[in-house]
Amino acid sequence: MDKRKAKHRIRELTDIINEHNYRYYVLSKPVISDYDFDMLLEELEKLEKDFPEFALPDSPTQRVGGEITKEFKQVQHKYPMLSLSNTYSEEELNEFDNRVKKAIGNDFDYVCELKYDGVSISLTYINGLLVRAVTRGNGFQGDDVTANIKTIKTIPLKLKGDYPQEFEIRGEIFMPKDGFKKLNELRAENGEDLFANPRNVTAGSIKMQDSAEVAKRPLDCYLYFLSGDNLPFGNHYKNLLKAKEWGFNVPRYIAKCRNIEEVFEFIHNWEKERDQLPLEIDGVVIKVNDYEQQLELGNTAKSPRWAIAYKYKAERVSTRLNSISYQVGRTGAITPVANLEPVQLAGTTVKRASLHNADIIEALDVRIGDMVYVEKGGEIIPKIVGVDLSQRTEKSERIIYIKNCPECGTPLVRKEGEANHYCPNEDGCPPQIKGRIEHFISRNAMNIDSLGEGKIEMLYSNGLIKDVADLYDLTYDNLLGIEKVIEATQDKKEKKLSFKEKTVNNILKGIQDSGETPFDKVLYALGIRYVGQTVAKKLANHYKNIDTLQKVSFEELILVDEIGEKIAESVMKYFNNEKNIRIIDRLREKGIQFEMKEIHELKSSKLEGKTIIVSGKLENFTREEIKKVIQEHGGKPVSSVSGKTDFLLAGENIGPNKLTKAKKLGIPVISEEDFLIMIG
Ligand code: IVH
Repeated sequence: MDKRKAKHRIRELTDIINEHNYRYYVLSKPVISDYDFDMLLEELEKLEKDFPEFALPDSPTQRVGGEITKEFKQVQHKYPMLSLSNTYSEEELNEFDNRVKKAIGNDFDYVCELKYDGVSISLTYINGLLVRAVTRGNGFQGDDVTANIKTIKTIPLKLKGDYPQEFEIRGEIFMPKDGFKKLNELRAENGEDLFANPRNVTAGSIKMQDSAEVAKRPLDCYLYFLSGDNLPFGNHYKNLLKAKEWGFNVPRYIAKCRNIEEVFEFIHNWEKERDQLPLEIDGVVIKVNDYEQQLELGNTAKSPRWAIAYKYKAERVSTRLNSISYQVGRTGAITPVANLEPVQLAGTTVKRASLHNADIIEALDVRIGDMVYVEKGGEIIPKIVGVDLSQRTEKSERIIYIKNCPECGTPLVRKEGEANHYCPNEDGCPPQIKGRIEHFISRNAMNIDSLGEGKIEMLYSNGLIKDVADLYDLTYDNLLGIEKVIEATQDKKEKKLSFKEKTVNNILKGIQDSGETPFDKVLYALGIRYVGQTVAKKLANHYKNIDTLQKVSFEELILVDEIGEKIAESVMKYFNNEKNIRIIDRLREKGIQFEMKEIHELKSSKLEGKTIIVSGKLENFTREEIKKVIQEHGGKPVSSVSGKTDFLLAGENIGPNKLTKAKKLGIPVISEEDFLIMIG
């Protein structure tokens, strides 16, 4: 492609992709398939690589990150980022209302918004382009985190419509609850420490040095405040709605209120409904709408007098700490758990709360028998936030964290930089052994659903399994009739459980069927620390089989996309352990798959190496179907005509542009009939 055309196409693709991003992320109304989107992005990436001088400042390719910042530049805020005075009391909110009335009379509106619990950011736009994103810092200067912020898909890189030439917009970066949950599930799967709450991980994410890592975090941003000399309206509410038209993600949880009674209504409504929101909030922000009235009210040194935050009280109860138990996970990590006197909190009965690790216990100085405060805040699991010292008995003693594994007695270890203690007895500690087998059979791994935690426990306690390979040695005879005695409790008598014929057959069938599990899932099932589903897929696709993977060096491993030192170290450690190699050999003997199977079986190679663009409406295929057929015959479907395209498959009503372009480049145009003949 010549330079002039490349420049033009780069501008065109940048605009098209930005618009698709906006439709997908902000409006949640995509108009093209993911495949078509990826093809456009791929085309742009390639053009930007060939013609870097034409890459635009609003290019969507920046969304995937890649820029490394060792130290963030300090930037002075043009408009100081004040904070808000806040209150937990309705009385104080009435006092605020009285102060406002006294200063500006009764003729004004409030705007109520939710107080999003995240990290505030200031974005500067000049001529419609995002030029800078700065954290609050000390209110006067903050960190320039532009590269990281550009990875957040709902933040426009370029604005639409009639925006002011230069202005700032402030908002809150946050991680939605479901994104936070998924991120933590993934970390649990990989044996990594969990994040405490969405706010902390958001704060950590926007300060990461590698923006490609930030791009992987499910962050979002709501905008709530504009500053500038040429804003279109003289009040906050109208400007916010206008900002929505420019492409900003302005949430719809906003109300204009004529008096404090309406403000209270907003507050009470959202207190009831806050659980339904996609993100954590911690209150409501109340702002005087009109800018002139805001000016009249003015600011104190720290916060404006025209706004206030009303904060919701976290639901909190107090109850007795009866004991602490220590759980041992599959990786040997110890989690201390508080056993509480059962208590009602936010609609559920709470009996247990995580104490996370030794540091948290020490910081809280909780003691057995203490009355403790339990809260359900941002976290999904309730947590202990403090101790009611007035009720502490004199003989209470500080908790001494356990030194030995509660399950196998082995002395615990704590690696530098890690919060958790570990039991190092991988091969002899029952919950670790059972945990590994439970992981192996789990749904995303070997998916043996005829086995579960209870049955694994029975097999283990009857001495039938000590590792995952033992599962494949189980026979009908040694399974039939094995028993487990369920101990008597206060309201239930002792009970004996035993495997009957049907159960045994089910178990054996499930184990046998697992031989069909593809290699990437087998690799995940092995339970190598830090090798979760995504990493397992990456490794399986890259190395194709376990023999190659087993032999690679640390240096080679870290060259693989997304494999860092921590993962590489763990993989090396796993394969350097003789016991693991023996398990793999035994599994292989039983027919478990240790290499990738070619999934897209080719029907023919009639289109091998051919690049084909399809345009217009086809008689026999939908868009997705024709793409699949092209691939099945070895071809590559593309979405735009270039010198490298081999054929243009023209359907009905084909657009004139593609046709003329193809003809100009001398690309053969074929009909649907021709295509069918080609593939036979
Ligand atoms: S307005 C000058 N609106 O609360 C006033 N702030 O304690 C500018 N926050 O630093 C702030 N939701 O991080 C405003 N709807 C909202 C907000 C909000 C959350 C945060 C923001 C600010 C802090 C003030």
